[in-house]
Amino acid sequence: MASNSGQTISIWMATADVPAHSPLAENTHTDVCIVGAGIAGMTTAYLLAREGKSVIVLDDGRIGGGMTERTTAHLFNAIDDRYFEIERMHGGKGARLAAQSHTAAIDRIEAIVAEEGIDCDFERLDGYLFVPPSHELNGESNGDSKADSTDVLERELKAAHRAGLTDVEQIKRAPIDSFDTGMCLRFPRQAQFHPLKYLSGLSRGIERQGGRIYTGTHASIMEGGAKARVETSNGFLVTADAIVIATNTPINDLITIHTKQAPYTTYVIGARIPRGSVTKALYWDTLDSYHYVRVQAGDHYDMLLVGGEDHKSGQADDGDQRHVNLEGWARERFPMIEGIELRWSGQVMEPVDGIAFIGRNPGDPQNVYIATGDSGMGMTHGTIAGILITDLIMKRECPWTALYDPARKTLRASLEYAKENLNVAAQYEDYLTGGDVESAEEIAQGEGAIIRRGMSKLAVYRDEQGTLHERSAVCPHLGCIVSWNSLEKTWNCPCHGSSFDRYGRVINGPANSELKGVKD
Ligand code: FES
Repeated sequence: MASNSGQTISIWMATADVPAHSPLAENTHTDVCIVGAGIAGMTTAYLLAREGKSVIVLDDGRIGGGMTERTTAHLFNAIDDRYFEIERMHGGKGARLAAQSHTAAIDRIEAIVAEEGIDCDFERLDGYLFVPPSHELNGESNGDSKADSTDVLERELKAAHRAGLTDVEQIKRAPIDSFDTGMCLRFPRQAQFHPLKYLSGLSRGIERQGGRIYTGTHASIMEGGAKARVETSNGFLVTADAIVIATNTPINDLITIHTKQAPYTTYVIGARIPRGSVTKALYWDTLDSYHYVRVQAGDHYDMLLVGGEDHKSGQADDGDQRHVNLEGWARERFPMIEGIELRWSGQVMEPVDGIAFIGRNPGDPQNVYIATGDSGMGMTHGTIAGILITDLIMKRECPWTALYDPARKTLRASLEYAKENLNVAAQYEDYLTGGDVESAEEIAQGEGAIIRRGMSKLAVYRDEQGTLHERSAVCPHLGCIVSWNSLEKTWNCPCHGSSFDRYGRVINGPANSELKGVKD
C-alpha cells in the first residue's frame, strides 16, 4: 500500500487494506461534517451515527492515511507524561479524569470491536514502565540525578493510585527473559490492536447507519455559524449543523492551538522474532525521549515493534541514523531478533500540558469542534475525542469537558509553553541563513534541498528522472522555512508540524495549501 503521509511503510499499511471511497461529487447537507478520517474523526462519525445523526466524513487521502497508520497502536491508560506531572499541572481531579477517560477509551474500543464484530487483533495485555539500568546508574539523558531516576517509579505508583488506578503495582522486573528491566510498574488491562483493521470496521458501521465517507476530497474552507460550511477544493459544498476538524492538527485554526502544542517526529522499527519469544505486553522506559515496545503476532513469526528517538519535527534530517540507533538498542536487549523488516516514522503533537485539546474551537462559533494534541496517546485520545464531541453535539454533560477544553490555560505549564514558543521563534532565523546547497547541481536524483536564490529560499526536489521541481520554501501556514526529510521524501515545517510531499502538495496541517510555485 503506497502512503500519502510519507515514503516509509508501517506494519499496518503492509498488512491491511482500507475500503476505498470516492471523492465528494455534489453539494450536500448533513447534521455533522467531519474533516479527517483518522481514529478521532472515524470514532466521532461512528458514535454520532449511532445516535441517529447524519454524518459525512471527508479526507484528502484515504481512511487512516495520516498519522493513524503510523502509530504503534498502544492502547494504554498509563499516561506517558507521568501521572505525577498531570497532577502537577491539572490537579488531583484532572489526573483522575485523565485516568478515567483513557480507561473508558480502551473499554469503548473493546465494546465496539465486540458489537461490530471487527477482526482487528484487539487484545488485552499488561503494560510495564521501567527505568533503564544505565539511566538508573548514571542519571544520564535527561539530567536526572540517580536519586530522581530511581524515585520516578515510586512517585508514579503513588500518583497512579491517587488517580484511581489502584491495581497498578511495582514488581521486580518486566516479563522479558532476554534482559532484566529491573524494578518496574505493571499497569494491568492495557490493550493493543491493528488500527487500520479497526478503522475498516468503523467505516462499515458508519455506512450501515447511513453515514457517508468521501476520500480524495480536500476541505479548503471550513466555517461555523448558523449554517456551517465546508468547501472542498474540487468545488463542492457541504452544509452542516456542526463541523468537526479531526486532522491531527487543526487546519482551520491559524494560531491559538499551535502555540500550545509542538510537533515531534518519532521513529519505529519492525523486527522479526520467533513466535512467542517475547511476552506480549506493552513496554516503555523512562528516558526522554523514551523507548516503546510491543509485539504483533504473525502467521510465521512475531514482529517486535520498537519506537523512540523523537526530535522536534523539521529540525533534524537523520532518520536513517535514528533507525540504526533503535536497532542497536533493540538488538542489545532482544538478541532473538532475526532481521529488521520495516522502518517508518510518524508525527506526535505534544500539548504543553500533556492533555489533548478536544472540544469547541476557541474563537469560532459554537458549532466548530476540534480534536488534536495526541501526546503520543493518539489511539485513546482519538477515542476520547469521539466520545466527548458526541456528548457535546448531543448536548449531554461530559465530566471530561473542562479537562480537554481547547481554550484552557494551564498556568503550571507556562515554562513548557515558553520553551516551545522560543523554539518556534528561533526557526525564523532560517530566513537569514544560506541554503543546504549552493546550486541544484548538488542535489542527487530522488533528493531535495533548500537553495537560496536572491532574497528567496526555494524547496528544490530532483526526481528519479533528473527533472527539478522548484517550490517556494516558505510554509503557507505562518511563513517558516521548510526543510527536507530524506527518509520520508517530504518537506517538513520546523514550526508547527506542516508537511508537504516532494512536489510541495500539503499532506499534514496546520498548513492547508501547497507550497507556492516560485513565480506566484
Ligand atoms: Fe506553522 Fe509552518 S506549520 S509556519
